[in-house]
Amino acid sequence: MRVIALEAVDFRNLAQVVVEPHPRFNVLHGDNGQGKTNLLEAVYLLGTLRSFRAAKTEELIRFGQARARVRARVSRLGTERLLEVELSPGHKSARLDGKHARSSQYFGGFNVVLFAPEDLRLPRGAPSGRRRFLDRAIFNAQPGYLAEAQSYERVLRSRNALLRSGAFDPALLEVYETQLAEAAVPLVTRRHRFVEALAPKVAETFSRVTGGLSLEIAYESTLDVPEERIAGLLRERLLAERRRDAARGATSSGPHTDDLALRFEGRAAGAYASQGQLRAIVLALKIAEIEQLTSALGDAPVLLLDDVSSELDATRNAQLFEFLREVPSQAFITTTHPAHVLLTKDREDYQVVSGTISIEKGDPAC
Ligand SMILES: Nc1ncnc2c1ncn2[C@@H]1O[C@H](COP(=O)(O)OP(=O)(O)OP(=O)(O)O)[C@@H](O)[C@H]1O
Ligand SMILES: [Mg+2]
Repeated sequence: MRVIALEAVDFRNLAQVVVEPHPRFNVLHGDNGQGKTNLLEAVYLLGTLRSFRAAKTEELIRFGQARARVRARVSRLGTERLLEVELSPGHKSARLDGKHARSSQYFGGFNVVLFAPEDLRLPRGAPSGRRRFLDRAIFNAQPGYLAEAQSYERVLRSRNALLRSGAFDPALLEVYETQLAEAAVPLVTRRHRFVEALAPKVAETFSRVTGGLSLEIAYESTLDVPEERIAGLLRERLLAERRRDAARGATSSGPHTDDLALRFEGRAAGAYASQGQLRAIVLALKIAEIEQLTSALGDAPVLLLDDVSSELDATRNAQLFEFLREVPSQAFITTTHPAHVLLTKDREDYQVVSGTISIEKGDPAC
């Protein structure tokens, strides 16, 4: 899978950028605040119809402008497609080959995997970060998961709003709880299966990058029962916890409280692993995710690496580039330190200055 040509107009600080990226490695360098991550964000938007850092569509539109547009000609397994996303305040519309597309039609042809410095905080961070990692990875391989996760979130918000309103309406609560319990089933099931399939790859990669140490991952769910019992169990809990939840203004049980457990040498990684080991854990998770996705899609996803090298030690950084050379992906790599990018061939270097992007002549690694 790859981007053949990309255009961003009034997207963040990119007034108008047109690039025909290299099929393999695209290295974007420049000082802080010039627009390197903005370009990755534009590619990410085309793959996911979301931003990895903006809460609102407005943030993505260049200051003083009414709308932003990103489009790209991409190819997957020999088929070319034109992807377009247009943004206006509070509104986003997607087109596929010139035709307006719903998300269910849009997804599936162009997959991106982001690796950003925030990922390096996964093992020690809050469970929500690990759930996000898991949900993004599942959605990439199984686009239908998005609608399921969204419908769960919608009912969850409705139940929480009702509890917070002080109107303790048992009949309405029961409706929401029944819906919530049913919506939880595909989430828990898909996450369980996904983690089970990913676990051996993670263990193998981690052992390779650390010279034999062990890493086990498991989906830790409060609803750890056979699939057919999940809805019933959650309904019982929701009923039992109504008063407490009303006092908290939040729902205590459900897959939105689950976690991805990381066990390093048999112990909780967040509590016992060193900084370097924590980075190796994240590297193993990302490599496994990319390999898993590549085999699920039959094609390698486009990789977006946002300045991760500066956060890795020399050994981990060398391992990252060794992996990148092996996987056939097109990659967009941002850096403030070109010397960290350990690639000698199949690369194009770009200089990013104040939202403009130009091809760098010569060998920047020298
Ligand atoms: N909606 C917007 N309109 C115009 N400019 C914006 C908008 N949103 C962000 N910016 C600008 O974009 C720049 C940030 O770009 P970006 O995050 O891509 O930087 P970067 O090159 O990745 O820097 P760093 O090396 O620090 O990560 C900032 O100067 C910011 O003010
Ligand atoms: Mg950046």
